[in-house]
Amino acid sequence: MKFNFFTATLLTVAFTFIFIGCQDSSSEESTAADQESETMTHSEMAAVDTTGAAVWAHIQEAEYRTSWTSWPGKGSLYTGQQPHGALLTTYLNDIAAEALASKAGEMPEGAIIIKENYMPDENLAAVTVMYKVKDYNPTEGDWFYSKHMPDGSLAMMNDMSLEGRVAGCVGCHKAQTANDFIFTGSLSE
Ligand code: HEC
Repeated sequence: MKFNFFTATLLTVAFTFIFIGCQDSSSEESTAADQESETMTHSEMAAVDTTGAAVWAHIQEAEYRTSWTSWPGKGSLYTGQQPHGALLTTYLNDIAAEALASKAGEMPEGAIIIKENYMPDENLAAVTVMYKVKDYNPTEGDWFYSKHMPDGSLAMMNDMSLEGRVAGCVGCHKAQTANDFIFTGSLSE
């Protein structure tokens, strides 16, 4: 073997690794930790955790306003009903948009619907989310609900933060059980 500069560098690198490997077992731990965090990132991509904070982080990262579909035929700042606000804009992630377009009858796992509530002066008042999570709440459509202030913090009602299987949200949305708890449009033919 010709012992040139390249081989020397390779050997130095190799020996450094062996040396660190023997000397310092914490480097092994940090590798394991790195792998774990990588696995977590992958599972988060598959399923967002069911907390308001995780859902908010996810929708911000997804840049839903520019990259998701706004509810077909509704456009921006359409007129809403009680209790959600004067003007609404509603977004669907790809999973939800596809189910709506194909008239799937119900939303599949991973579907996320975001409805922004605006004041009559077009100031954002709140952001509400419905997120379909397998086995999360089987008798009530498996929806996770959350309501956020414009800064992302959770809206509160009677000292309870509005996230999860929120009774107030479910109580009204269940009028639409036949349409998978959704008001804005029909999911079937
Ligand atoms: C009193 C009834 C009522 C309550 C309570 C209610 N909603 Fe709604 N929700 C509606 C109606 C009606 C619509 C349709 C939009 C519109 O025209 O206002 C809607 C629409 C939505 C949508 C868009 C998807 C859809 O169903 O059309 C989301 C997301 C949503 N609500 C989230 C929530 C959350 C989160 C809560 C609890 C914090 C909540 N809602 C409480 C009546 C209600």
